[in-house]
Amino acid sequence: MRIYDLIETKKRGGALTEEEIAYMVRGFVDGRIPDYQMSAMLMAIYFQGMNDREITYLTLEMAHSGDMVDLSPIEGIKVDKHSTGGVGDKTTLVVGPMVASLGVKVAKMSGRGLGHTGGTVDKLESIPGFKTAIPREEFFDIVNGNGIAVIGQSGNMVPADKKLYALRDVTATVDSIPLIASSIMSKKLAAGSDSIVLDVKTGSGAFMKTLDESICLAKKMVSIGCMAGRRCCALITNMDIPLGYAIGNSLEMTEAIRTLKGEGPEDLTRVCLELAANMLHLAGRGTVKECRKMAEETIHDGSALKRLALMVKAQGGDESFIWKPEQFGSPACAYEVKAPAQGYISHMDTEGIGTASVLLGAGRNTKEDPIDYGAGIVLKKKYGEKVMPGDVLAVLYADSMERIQAGADKFLSSCTISQDAPGPETLIYARVSEYEVERFEGLEKLP
Ligand code: URA
Repeated sequence: MRIYDLIETKKRGGALTEEEIAYMVRGFVDGRIPDYQMSAMLMAIYFQGMNDREITYLTLEMAHSGDMVDLSPIEGIKVDKHSTGGVGDKTTLVVGPMVASLGVKVAKMSGRGLGHTGGTVDKLESIPGFKTAIPREEFFDIVNGNGIAVIGQSGNMVPADKKLYALRDVTATVDSIPLIASSIMSKKLAAGSDSIVLDVKTGSGAFMKTLDESICLAKKMVSIGCMAGRRCCALITNMDIPLGYAIGNSLEMTEAIRTLKGEGPEDLTRVCLELAANMLHLAGRGTVKECRKMAEETIHDGSALKRLALMVKAQGGDESFIWKPEQFGSPACAYEVKAPAQGYISHMDTEGIGTASVLLGAGRNTKEDPIDYGAGIVLKKKYGEKVMPGDVLAVLYADSMERIQAGADKFLSSCTISQDAPGPETLIYARVSEYEVERFEGLEKLP
C-alpha cells in the first residue's frame, strides 16, 4: 500500500477501505507517513468528505491508537459531556457538579483552549493549586469518593488525534465534519464513559457556522457513539453570541460559581440545565423533564456548588476560591469599551470576540504560550440590546495597555450596531438522538 495512492483515491472522491484507513492512521502516528502527505490527505478529505463507514473506521482506528481507559474501577454509571468548542462556554464547570451531586459519576477528561475557543483545563487551573494531571488510580479514587474529577488528557490517549489536530490547525482543515466527528468521538470512546452528551455549537463562534452543518455533525457523532455501544445524544446550541457574560479563565470560573448559586446569566443557566437533564436522562434517572427538575434542585439546595468545592479540594485546589471568588483578583489593566454610536447590537462576531480575549492574554496562539488566568472580557451588553453613544459594551482585562489596545480594536470590530432592532435568536435549536432530530427552533428564544 502507498499513501500516494490513497491520497489520489480521496482526491477523486473515492472511498477508503478499513485497511487503508488503518494503514494511514498507523503510518502517520509512527512517523512513516510525513506531515506533507498527511496534509494533502486532510485537504482531500476536507473537499471530498467521507462516507459514514469511513468516518466510523477512522474514529475507531484513532481511538485505538493509544490507551483505551477502562473506567470499571469506578462504581455506577459514568456520564461524559463534550462541547465542540465555543466562546464563554463554561458549561462543564456547572453541569459536572450538578450531575455528580445527584449520584451519577463524572470522570471527565478535558482539553485546553486552542484558537479562539477556551478549554476547561485552563479554567480550572486558574484556581491556585488545582491539579489536572493526576495518576489514573487517584483519578478513580476521587470519582468514587466525590462523584466527579476533571483532568487533562493523559500521555498516551488518542495520539492520532494529537498529531492530526496539530496538523489540521495549521493547514486550515479543522472545520470538516468527518475530521471533527472522528477527533471528538475517538477521544470520547477512549475516555470510557457509558453515556455521552454532546453540545454541538452552531454560529459565528463555532467551527460549524450553519444549523444544517451542525445537525449533520451531531448525527454523525451520535451514530458513532451508539454504534460503539454507548448511550449518546446531542444538543445543538447557539454560538452566534458568547455564552454568558464572562470570557477568560478566572472570569469564567467566577461566572460558573455564580451560576451554581442560582445567580448566573439566563442563557448559561438554561443551556447547563438542558445538558445536565440530558446527562441524567441517559444515565436512566428519568424523563428529560424530570431530570431538568432534579438538576434545578441542585442549584436551589446548594448541593452542586458544594460538589464543585469538594472536587477542587480533592484535586489540590484552594477551595476557599469557590466560596470567595473575589480572591481571583484582576490583572493590572482594565478598560471600558464604549459604544461608538446609538442603535442596537445586531451582530456579535463571536469568533472575533474569542480572538480578542486571546489577544488580551486569556488564550494561546501556540500550545506552548503561557496564559494570563485573569485576562479576558466581561460583556456589559449583548445581542439585541439598545445602546447609546458612550455606553459601556464590555470591560477588558489584561496585564498591559498594548494588549488592551489590541483586544479593544478586535472587540469593537466584532460588534455591529444597527439602527433596527434585530430579531430574537434561538438558544437551543435541536436535540439529536439515535432515532430522531427534535427541533426546538422558535420555542427557545434569545434575548
Ligand atoms: N474539538 C475537538 O476535539 N476536535 C475537533 O476537531 C474540533 C473541536
